[in-house]
This record gives sequence, structure tokens and C-alpha cells, in this order.
Amino acid sequence: MNSIDPAAYDAIGDAYATRLEATPVHTHYARPATLALIPDDLAGQRALDAGCGDGWYARQLAARGASVTAIDASEAMLAHARERSPASIEFHRADLGSPLPFEDATFDLVLSALAIHYVRDYRALFAEFARVLRRGGRLVVSTHHVVSEVEVQKPADYFTTETFEDEWPAIGKVRYWRRPLSEVLQPMLDAGLYLTRVVEPQPLASLQAIDAKLHDVLATRPLFLLLAAEKPR
Ligand SMILES: C[S@@+](CC[C@H](N)C(=O)[O-])C[C@H]1O[C@@H](n2cnc3c(N)ncnc32)[C@H](O)[C@@H]1O
Repeated sequence: MNSIDPAAYDAIGDAYATRLEATPVHTHYARPATLALIPDDLAGQRALDAGCGDGWYARQLAARGASVTAIDASEAMLAHARERSPASIEFHRADLGSPLPFEDATFDLVLSALAIHYVRDYRALFAEFARVLRRGGRLVVSTHHVVSEVEVQKPADYFTTETFEDEWPAIGKVRYWRRPLSEVLQPMLDAGLYLTRVVEPQPLASLQAIDAKLHDVLATRPLFLLLAAEKPR
């Protein structure tokens, strides 16, 4: 089993797309920090949004001028994405746990936001991201921070790679992989990518007025880890 269950979001897709995707953790924390790793001007560039969900990032990339292809394993999420996005964005069903359905060196940018932890084999996944990137191309990924995973899951052995079942309020059960930090970073380096940014985001100050408690939690505990890498020229 490489992907948890590629279609798992079919069961929770409607709830995720309507209730969770626009919550402050996304709007005032994950999204601004992730967008800051992407150039403002993507005119003439080809971008892949891998694990696109409702397509929010795909639309941001298109708004910056990129020609965008977006993939997700869940038809339910893709249905929301297609409904919310301009026809110029191509959406396809594809499993990040399998070889990507693209030629070598297709993209200038690959973005994968909060999706890679549904895949067990990061060596194969990062090798695929590197393969579909052009030389000089950029990879941006976000995932759960290992510190928050350890705090929540309290694994008996930090060094194992194992699945964890979480229950998101008003959404449902979600299962993903947890692994030690070395098993996040080393597969990326082994794929021939070099790390350019390691970001442990801070919430926007404006979250204080919306949810001071959440602001203080996110300002003092790391929830997500953001990485940017490049394929050598
Ligand atoms: C937490 S959502 C993130 C969506 C979007 N990237 C965002 O940040 O708004 C995770 C997404 O990953 C997708 N996903 C889960 N497992 C996958 C797999 N094996 N291959 C492709 N997509 C997958 C889910 O269907 C879901 O849309």
C-alpha cells in the first residue's frame, strides 16, 4: 500500500471543500506562507498542482500567469475544483502514489500543498516530482510538521513510518503517514533536488482579531512544514 486510499477524500470531499478549506488555519497561516514561496510572475510557465483539492492553489498559479495542470486522487474534490475554476485549468484524476502521467521535464513549477503525507514512499514521489520538473524548475511542498505529529500521535517509536487516523471536527476520519524528519528531507535530496527554503510558518497578525487562541497556538507551536527545492540547471 503506497497511497493510504487515493479516493479517501470522496467520502469527506464535500465537507472539506465547503467547511474546512476556507478556515483560518488555511487563510491566515498555510496559504499566505505557501504563496510566499512562489514567484509573483509565472507568465509563460507551466505549473502542476499535485493533490489540488478544490483547486484553490491552481487558481492562484493561473492568476500569476501560469499554464496550470492540477491532479487529485478524489473525483469529489476534482468536481469542486472544476466547478470553482476557469476552464483554462486542466484537472485530471491521478494518484501521487503512482508514476505521474506526464512526460519528463514538463513543468517549471510543482506545488503540492498538504497532500504528500497520504503517500508512503517519498523516494518514489520526490523522484517523480524531480522527473517532471525542467532543469532549474522549482518544487514547493507543505506537510504536517513532525513536532505537531509527535505531540498529537505520541508514537511509541519516532523512527518508524506508520499511519495515523485523525478525526477532523465536522469533517470525519482521515488517515495519513507519519515519518521521522530525515525520511521527509533525505528522499527529496536523494531525488537530486536541492533545498532552498525551510519554512515553519507564523500566522498572519490579523488572525489575532478573528481567533486569538488559535493565533497564539500557531505562533508558538509548529503545525505545518513548508519546503522549497530546485532541480539543478
Ligand atoms: C488536505 S487536502 C489539500 C488540498 C489542497 N492542496 C489545498 O491545500 O487546499 C489533501 C488533498 O490530497 C488529495 N489526495 C490524497 N491522497 C492522494 C493521492 N494518493 N494522490 C493524489 N491526491 C491525493 C485529497 O483528495 C485532497 O484533495
